[in-house]
Amino acid sequence: MTDTVLPLPANAKTEADIDPTLDLVEAINALRKEKNAIILAHYYQEGEIQDLADFVGDSLDLSRKAAATDADMIVFCGVRFMGEVAKILSPGKIVVIPDSEAGCSLEESCRPEPFAAFRAKHPDHVAVTYINCSADIKALSDVIVTSSNAEVIVNSLPQDKPILFAPDRHLGAYIAKKTGRDMTLWPGSCIIHEQFSEKELVKLKTRHPKALVAAHPECPETVLRHADYIGSTKGILDYVVKTEADEFIIATEPHIIHQMTKAAPTKTFIPAPFAEGECASCADCPFMAKNTLEKIYLAMLNEGPALAVPEELRTRALKPLERMLELSASVPMGGSSNAK
Ligand code: 13P
Repeated sequence: MTDTVLPLPANAKTEADIDPTLDLVEAINALRKEKNAIILAHYYQEGEIQDLADFVGDSLDLSRKAAATDADMIVFCGVRFMGEVAKILSPGKIVVIPDSEAGCSLEESCRPEPFAAFRAKHPDHVAVTYINCSADIKALSDVIVTSSNAEVIVNSLPQDKPILFAPDRHLGAYIAKKTGRDMTLWPGSCIIHEQFSEKELVKLKTRHPKALVAAHPECPETVLRHADYIGSTKGILDYVVKTEADEFIIATEPHIIHQMTKAAPTKTFIPAPFAEGECASCADCPFMAKNTLEKIYLAMLNEGPALAVPEELRTRALKPLERMLELSASVPMGGSSNAK
């Protein structure tokens, strides 16, 4: 896979250089001004990062923000492939990520060579690819989707066209069921959503009979079949805020509960369980958890880890991303901007 992360400058500061008395939020705010930076954060980030960000959203809205910003620097608090998306859409900006190791199991499951072979085996299929993949995979795809626009985009494709969907088999199966389309799925999955336990969820529902279940479509069908609502992180957030119920079970990465509690403080949000005996924080994404305030501060100070997508790869990956943005016009913008 193409390495899209530039080495840090030789004089880069490290965590050992940070004065322990430094107020990190103040220091980040000062750098934000000095560097004309915008901080973008996914709902899966720690609450303190979400609160510090200029904009918090799902993958589609973060892509739209990254494409439209007039900032000079984009600080992407999420996973590496989303930093790549920002750089592909806004090549003239400095795009930094707090931790270059913040990857994704879906991205890892789909390598360029086997994916190219998968495409070659199905030459008449349209390759619809989830944004959770590397720039190399995007460049080999016809159109990119996120969980909030996948259904709209698949429905917009000519009815007679069979579809290849990668890398998330659960999202793919869910969209195939919703649209009735002929979809051949790549066998990838998210290490978090894959582990929600149907048995434990049913037990939890018995203990909370009035709770409604809101699930992300990356969950297996065994979990989705118990959901009252299925949607992207933005969709789930809107659903719990607007629906008249007091208790919700949330089947996705639990850091989104931070925004739910802010938007609906009187409601109760219960994270969906993993298998019996698993810890309460097992559903925290280990890749997202790599980002910290210290690393955000250092990334802004050092202007790295910075992303650099080779131009030939970037132009090929840009096409399916632009197609995604065009075909998402009917999907309303969500997310929240923090007043700074
Ligand atoms: P969203 O489309 O809701 O941002 O999904 C992101 C994701 O990676 C789910 O695990």
